[in-house]
Parts: sequence; structure tokens; C-alpha cells
Amino acid sequence: MATPFNTSINREKTSCVKYDLRENIFGSSSVIPMWVADMDIATPPFIIEAIRERLAHPILGYGFRNEAYLNSISSWLMQRHEWAVNNQWIAFCPGVVSGLNHAITALTNAADSIIIQPPVYHPFFHTVENNNRKLILNPLLENNGCYTMDFDNLEHHLRNGAKMLILSNPHNPVGRVWSKEELSTLGNLCVKYGTLIISDEIHSDLIFAPHKHIPLASISESIANITITFSSPSKTFNIAGLATAFAIISNAQLRDKYKKELEKTGAGMGNILGPVAVEAAYTEQGAAWLNELLSYL
Ligand SMILES: Cc1ncc(COP(=O)(O)O)c(C=O)c1O
Repeated sequence: MATPFNTSINREKTSCVKYDLRENIFGSSSVIPMWVADMDIATPPFIIEAIRERLAHPILGYGFRNEAYLNSISSWLMQRHEWAVNNQWIAFCPGVVSGLNHAITALTNAADSIIIQPPVYHPFFHTVENNNRKLILNPLLENNGCYTMDFDNLEHHLRNGAKMLILSNPHNPVGRVWSKEELSTLGNLCVKYGTLIISDEIHSDLIFAPHKHIPLASISESIANITITFSSPSKTFNIAGLATAFAIISNAQLRDKYKKELEKTGAGMGNILGPVAVEAAYTEQGAAWLNELLSYL
């Protein structure tokens, strides 16, 4: 294996949330920080090199996300996940959590009901409650350590008028890679009741064969029409500090509303180095590095 994934890297004193905030968060700097999905594996050298090249230019002014950046995302989604995405469907978000908040405020109203399926990534609770929406829980069912979705209870909540559902696909923390059948059932129920779905697919590249990630919106046009997908190369390539997330929204009305919300909060600018990192990550070199990483993991 060409890449030395097992090199130990000291991250202390780099203003690193995972290590340098342990004292603040846990009252001790000796705890093992397993609470945050932030690898200790070095960001790939070809990403660092691309950033270095950009830094050779003496000005770091305002930038925009150009066609090459958009192409890198759409070709990655096609090659890795067989999902044909039109570049026009791609919208920015600094981070997935920021995107969730913007989608909630853009597409639902105060007191609307939003469903999440615990146990689930804890900011899902906060995004609903902090925006004064009503939190509806559809707990996953557990059977001998394997989790499934409770479609009967879900339909009950959809029938009662839930406006949105937030899906973790694949699911953090239970580790389920949802099957096409499960996603179709979920998506078609939401189509039936006119409920929007946010599909958080941030972990979609870190999946072990024979499992295969199915982008929810790739299943059918009617499901795509009610779906706002968020993803990012941040977990895959360990670049969470660079604000590299994005949204895929094929429904033009939903996309316009989402983009207006970003404009309203001024969160649409991002930073000049994020797109450089995305373009370097979503390449053949990135794919080869990721295959090596998956085999190491
Ligand atoms: C399911 C899920 N969504 C979103 C995030 C965070 O995304 P971001 O840093 O882009 O806001 C995480 C981080 O652990 C996560 O596990």
C-alpha cells in the first residue's frame, strides 16, 4: 500500500476541535476523543499541494465556484454512485449542518412538524428545535443489533401532516447503509403525503463492499422532486475545516428558495480554498486514494 495511513500525527495545539477542546468539553485533556467524525489520517498530499499552488498567488480575494468545480462534483457522483446530476442542480453550503438549517428555514414554517429517526446524529435534533419547528421522532427498530426504519409509525406521522423528514443516508450512528428497497419505500411514502426529505449523504463515500450507497434522489424523478441532498468531501478526505459541502436540488422551486435563504444570511460565499480542495479531491487520484483508504480501514 503506497499511502502510510498508520502514521501517528500529533494534532495538539492546532486549534483542533477533536483534541484541543477536550479540556473545555470533558474537563480533561486525556479522554480519547471518539465523539467527533474527524479522522487522524493525513489529508491526501495532492489536496495539500493544490492548496499550496493556489497560495502561491499573492491575493486571496472573493472567489466563485466555477464550472470545473461543478463538473468535479457531478462526475464524482456519477462515477462513485451512478447518479446523473445536472450542474445546475448543485448549490453551495458551507457545511452540511448549515445547509440543514438553511433548508429548514427556507422550506418550512414555524411550528411545522419535522421527522427524524433516532438514534441519529445529534445536530438533527438541534436544527429542528433551534428553528422553532416541532420535532417528531420515528425511532429506528432494533433487532439483534440490526436497525430498520419503522414505516408504519412513519406513515402515521406523514398522515398527520409532517412537512419534512431528515434522513441520514447512510445512517450515523447505527451504520446502516439503507437498501434501495428501504429508500424506495421511504421516498414513495413521502411522495404520497407531499412531505419533503432532506437526505444527509455526507458519509456516502465511506462504505465497505459489498454494500453500496444509493443516493435517495437517484431512485426516481418523483422522489428527486421532493428531495434536498447534502454531501461533502469533508469526511472522506479529512478536510472538514475547509467548508466544502454542497446541496443537490433538482426541483427548481425548492432550489431557488434554498439559494435565496443562503443569500439572506450571506452564508453563500464560502472560502477561496474550499473549491480548490473539492476539485483536487474529486479526481481519479482521489478515487484511487479513497480505495486504498477503504481497504486500510
Ligand atoms: C451525519 C452527519 N451529518 C453532518 C455532519 C457534519 O457536517 P458538516 O461538518 O459539513 O456540517 C456530520 C459530522 O459528523 C455527520 O455525521
